This record gives sequence, C-alpha cells and structure tokens, in this order.
Amino acid sequence: MRTNGSYNPAPIGVFDSGFGGLTVAREIVKALPGESLTYVGDSARCPYGPRDLSEVDGFVQQICSWLVAQGVKMIVIACNTATAAGLAHAQKEFSVPIIGVVEPGARAAVHATRNGRVGVIATKATIESGAYANAIRHIDAGITVFSTATPRFVEIAERGIRMAEGPVEDYTSLASKVYIRPAFQEIAQDYLDPLRRCGIDTLVLGCTHYPLLKALIGAVIGREVTLISSAKEAARDVAAILDRKGAMAPSDAQPVLRFYTTGEDVDEFRSFGGRVLRRPLEHVEHVTLPEIS
Ligand code: DGL
Repeated sequence: MRTNGSYNPAPIGVFDSGFGGLTVAREIVKALPGESLTYVGDSARCPYGPRDLSEVDGFVQQICSWLVAQGVKMIVIACNTATAAGLAHAQKEFSVPIIGVVEPGARAAVHATRNGRVGVIATKATIESGAYANAIRHIDAGITVFSTATPRFVEIAERGIRMAEGPVEDYTSLASKVYIRPAFQEIAQDYLDPLRRCGIDTLVLGCTHYPLLKALIGAVIGREVTLISSAKEAARDVAAILDRKGAMAPSDAQPVLRFYTTGEDVDEFRSFGGRVLRRPLEHVEHVTLPEIS
C-alpha cells in the first residue's frame, strides 16, 4: 500500500438512512484506522425502503452535495436502497469517487456460492430496483438469484437498537429471546422459508441494517447457508481507491470521526450509534439538510 507524507487528510463521507450504515463505517474504521470519517444518518427520513426510488435519489444527491461541501475525499453510500436509487446519478454529478454497497455485496456472494443459487433479502425499493440481481448476473450470468423484500427486518433492527444495552448484536442474538425473538422468528420464517426451499447456499444481507440481525437470520435460514454482508468488501474497495490515488491516511494518523444526524435526538444517535460502531461517538451534531430545489 502506498502511504506517504503527502496523503490526503480529508475525511471519507459515509451515509445511510440511519444507523445501518454504521455497520459499514465500522469496517472502514477497522480496515483503515488512520482515516477520518464524516457520517450522515438521515434518521429524520428513515426508512428509505418503502419510498419511491426517485425520491430517495433526490436524498442521495442532496447528502452527497452536503458531504462534498464539507470537503470529503470520497463518498461511500452505505445504504443499499440509496445505492440502488442514486449511485449512478451521483457518480455523474460529483467529481469525488463515490461507491455504493450493492456491487461489493454482489461480488462477495458470487465468490461464496458453490451451487450457483443465491438469495437476496433487502428493502422493497432495493428488491424492486433489481439492482442485486443485475449486479450478480453481470459478474456471473450463470447464477440464479432469488430475491425477497424483508422490510420488517429494518424495524426489528431499529427496535433492537433502542432496547439493547451494549453491542446490539449481543442483544438480538441472546437477550432478545424473551422479547423480540418469538415475533422475529415468525416474521423471519415467513420471509426466509421460501428462500430455503429454493436451495440457496448463499444469502446476501442486502440492507445495511441486517448485519445487526445476523445471528437470528442465520438461525432461521440454517448453518449451511453462507450469509454475506457488503461491509467488509466495501471497506476493501475504499482502501483500493485511496491507495490508487495515493490518498490513504497512514494508520498512525490522528483521525477525527464526525457524525451528523438529521433526527432531532442527538443524544439518542450518540448512544445507539456508539453501540453499533462499538466505540463511543465523540462528535455528534444535528444537521438540517437544505430542501432540494
Ligand atoms: N439501511 C438501508 C439499506 O441498506 C435500509 C433502511 C431503510 O429502509 O431506510 O437499504
């Protein structure tokens, strides 16, 4: 990796409709510990999943424009719905490199499958966009993709975050037995049984909220199915882009992690977000994004 004295110290911009993108941010922090981040959680307009793609596209352009004005050196759209709705448009509008999470997830799934039968679960908007099926077939046209919209998983992940103490995954996999798990089991079985019957050996968690429910989704779909999330693969893509541009911060740089929420409750974002990122969030502010003209 090329890191030298003249690296670009500007932050990487990352955004999502809320907390889900923090599952991607934490992989970026792990892979690139010297990088500063500017994260936007658009909690005021969460969820994106039930909205029209054109509306979400508008949000994407608006948030990218705000991040570019903050001086970010690249942008990660850490939300599958936002990627499906606005990545291609944003790449045309802005001059900084912009990546999404669909292509990295598709790539990881293609590498993982042995029998060529891949399931995808995501929000309604992501599934209806066909983004995953297209991305997977673009890499390997021989793969059969089975897609299901699982919108209630977003709600369950958000509920888990609000109820948990400590890392939210611990809660959803252990303590939630009492409260969330019975209801979750039923919903998850309704969503996942048809996919299981299709004989998939790989399941893409095509929403950045879903890694928070990995243990529970895994328990329902069965151990023989490999669960894929885009986060690690997306972090690798970030590293490759920064390396290629000679812009990567050395791991001993002093990074600043800044978090902005469009929601009213900054303290809530700080406490829930810290549990997803697995570290205290020091700089958290409210941001009002200008209306799109
Ligand atoms: N985290 C978003 C995604 O990856 C979905 C949550 C939402 O519906 O806003 O698609």
